[in-house]
Amino acid sequence: MTERPLRLVLIVGSTRSGRFCPTVAEWFAAHARSRADVAVDVIDLAQAWLPDVLPGDEDTELPRPVRELQPWLAEADAFVVVTPEYNHSFPAPLKNAIDWFFEEWQAKPVAYVSYGGISGGLRAVEQLRLVFNELHATSVRTSIAFPNFDERFGEDGTPVDAARYEKSAHAMLDELVWWGHALRAGRERTPFPAGAGE
Ligand SMILES: Cc1cc2nc3c(=O)[nH]c(=O)nc-3n(C[C@H](O)[C@H](O)[C@H](O)COP(=O)(O)O)c2cc1C
Repeated sequence: MTERPLRLVLIVGSTRSGRFCPTVAEWFAAHARSRADVAVDVIDLAQAWLPDVLPGDEDTELPRPVRELQPWLAEADAFVVVTPEYNHSFPAPLKNAIDWFFEEWQAKPVAYVSYGGISGGLRAVEQLRLVFNELHATSVRTSIAFPNFDERFGEDGTPVDAARYEKSAHAMLDELVWWGHALRAGRERTPFPAGAGE
């Protein structure tokens, strides 16, 4: 039986003016789109215009940008977060986007593509693993990191060491797809029992 493709949402995690993030995200999205087992949507947080003030109990209607983004996340089976490292963590707008949602992340796998100086953004990724764990999301073990990213991409937007990075991207997506199918089947079988623990 052929399984229907997973809906993969790729999140462009930097909103900074003059950011590098789209180069990394576009390279990864092109690779992912070459596979038949995922259908890729790209969400650019710079275009999402999420407010940075979260609602209180008295607020009955969510802001329009949140309502517009919600179905894209809710219908996703898996996520890839593309993130730089800011002060040994990940960008504040990315945390803001994560915090606006809850069930949309639940019982779904998350993979990471990072970039930075000597760290390749891995310190940002380690923190994202903690955050997504709190949201009952499953971070896949393999990630892709670009240390000294400004030396790693050619003028055409592909990594200088393309074959190696393509291989890593493929391995990471294989893991993500495995988890994506397992967790989608689980969600369809039984609602996720979140909320029991403190
Ligand atoms: C506020 C800020 C903090 C940064 N902190 C780090 C850091 O801790 N580690 C690192 O490797 N690079 C750091 N950088 C450099 C970024 O890796 C670099 O600016 C990169 O281009 C950021 O991604 P972006 O252009 O897509 O926003 C920092 C950049 C900014 C703007």
